Amino acid sequence: MFTVGVKFENVTKMYQNGRPAVQGLSLEVQSGELLVLIGPSGCGKTTTLRMINRLEEPTSGTIYVDGHDVRSYNPIQLRRGIGYTIQQTGLLPHMTVEQNIELVPRLLRWDKKRRQERVRELLELVGMDYRAFAHRYPRQLSGGQQQRVGVLRALATDPPVILMDEPFGALDPISREVLQTELKRLQAKLHKTIIFVTHDIDEAMRLGDRVAILRDGQLLQVGTPTELLHAPQDEFVAKFLGRFLSLPQSPVDEVRQLIQTGESRILKELPSGERVVQMGSFPWCFLIDDQGVLKGATCQVPEDLEQWKSIIWQEAASIKETDTPDIALKRLIEGEAEALPVVDEERHLVGIISHRSAIKALSSGVGRVSV
Ligand SMILES: Nc1ncnc2c1ncn2[C@@H]1O[C@H](COP(=O)(O)OP(=O)(O)OP(=O)(O)O)[C@@H](O)[C@H]1O
Ligand SMILES: [Mg+2]
Repeated sequence: MFTVGVKFENVTKMYQNGRPAVQGLSLEVQSGELLVLIGPSGCGKTTTLRMINRLEEPTSGTIYVDGHDVRSYNPIQLRRGIGYTIQQTGLLPHMTVEQNIELVPRLLRWDKKRRQERVRELLELVGMDYRAFAHRYPRQLSGGQQQRVGVLRALATDPPVILMDEPFGALDPISREVLQTELKRLQAKLHKTIIFVTHDIDEAMRLGDRVAILRDGQLLQVGTPTELLHAPQDEFVAKFLGRFLSLPQSPVDEVRQLIQTGESRILKELPSGERVVQMGSFPWCFLIDDQGVLKGATCQVPEDLEQWKSIIWQEAASIKETDTPDIALKRLIEGEAEALPVVDEERHLVGIISHRSAIKALSSGVGRVSV
């Protein structure tokens, strides 16, 4: 497999006057990894991204993409291999969704048929119907839809490296969560090397294979969410992790180990091949497609199953089986949910996790939990 990582070697960036925006940054992003850069406003996140695709040049130090110094690439060619979503979606308002997405393919002189097929395929990837959306202008989309299109534009030519600068920053918490789940699902399929900038620690802990914490242009600590929680380097990092630290540490690593399945009962098969199922004694109903992919949930059993679609919560919150139990518990508490569905990387429904089982599992073995 073609592998493309990104490496910073002692990189410093000074703008004309003032303190360094980035200082002595050394960091390696593995191929296929989603690395989150997080830190307060002005700490150098955007500058760090912009040096990778040479929109800015470092004052000193070297950046490597796929093992080669970025200065050895022609900047235009380099940028074609790197998808970039800028802070705010950066969609061009006078262009339709389709024209926005096919911007780079057009520059690469793909023919019309190939471009159209790609746009169709991409929109499908995030559940947007081509006929309904391709010809709208950005102002005719919701914030979440605009952000999706921004992400698709970065994916258009299937670049191995993607830089995302607060792509979901402008969204309300629920839409944000939906897009985060979508990004995780896409990433499980596409295995891109992604550097993702955010201010939001919840987002960082949920998305990042590793999280790098920056302050005043300097890297304070980098590690997996679990590593950071177990050993925050200093007070600043601990403060940043905030309430994640006040949650109990778990003796198990993944939600996978806490899933309850019970017997699953099919309440109804819809003509579309979708099924309405219940699991064990859990009162919720889930809608899954013929492949078992979670399509929605509702906390009441629809009296008339035909009316299922009108009461379903289509973008149901769910927990990944690979999420850590502390994240699951936090989400259960925040969502005031008794239980939530658990899905695998492909969003297949694999079980449920209840508040009670999470707490029980967390408290067994460590004996210091009270939530
Ligand atoms: N073109 C520029 N000229 C001079 N200074 C700049 C320029 N761009 C950024 N800076 C400064 O460099 C520092 C880092 O800016 P940067 O945009 O990288 O921060 P950031 O972490 O992305 O912040 P935010 O979270 O607000 O987007 C800031 O102090 C900023 O004022
Ligand atoms: Mg920024």
